[in-house]
Amino acid sequence: MKRKYLLMPVLIFLIYACGGQSNQQANNTAGSDTKATAVKQEHKGKQLIAKSDCSACHSDKNKIVGPSYTDVANKYDNTPENHQYLTEKIVKGGSGVWGDVPMTPHPQLSEADLKEMVNYIFTLKH
Ligand code: HEC
Repeated sequence: MKRKYLLMPVLIFLIYACGGQSNQQANNTAGSDTKATAVKQEHKGKQLIAKSDCSACHSDKNKIVGPSYTDVANKYDNTPENHQYLTEKIVKGGSGVWGDVPMTPHPQLSEADLKEMVNYIFTLKH
């Protein structure tokens, strides 16, 4: 009888400790799941743009040095010719369409990456 009473607080503590820990683990797992989904849903072109130097001069919505991607998307029809034109412009750089400030050339980008980037820019069209 005496022993049982002594064990009670220990048991309660153990249950509390284990319960607390597994709750925390569950929360952590849920947190990283949400993150993973968010990254998965992000357009590949957006990720490539984020990895390149584009963000120094462009953003989705606001003009920085160059026009916002939304402005670019709204200026052009979503046609294969315009995809081709914008791809070449990113590779070669240049000025005169949005102002006198030139865009730097990007000859290092692969065709596949450029395609994703231009596809992403056109997702912002509205
Ligand atoms: C040094 C700054 C700078 C960087 C870095 C830069 N841009 Fe630009 N970008 C500009 C400027 C300035 C213009 C406007 C050029 C013009 O008026 O013809 C422009 C124009 C554009 C256009 C529209 C072209 C047109 O003729 O309408 C696209 C699309 C674009 N940039 C995408 C990108 C992408 C993608 C990257 C990264 C790989 C990038 N830019 C990196 C400055 C930059």
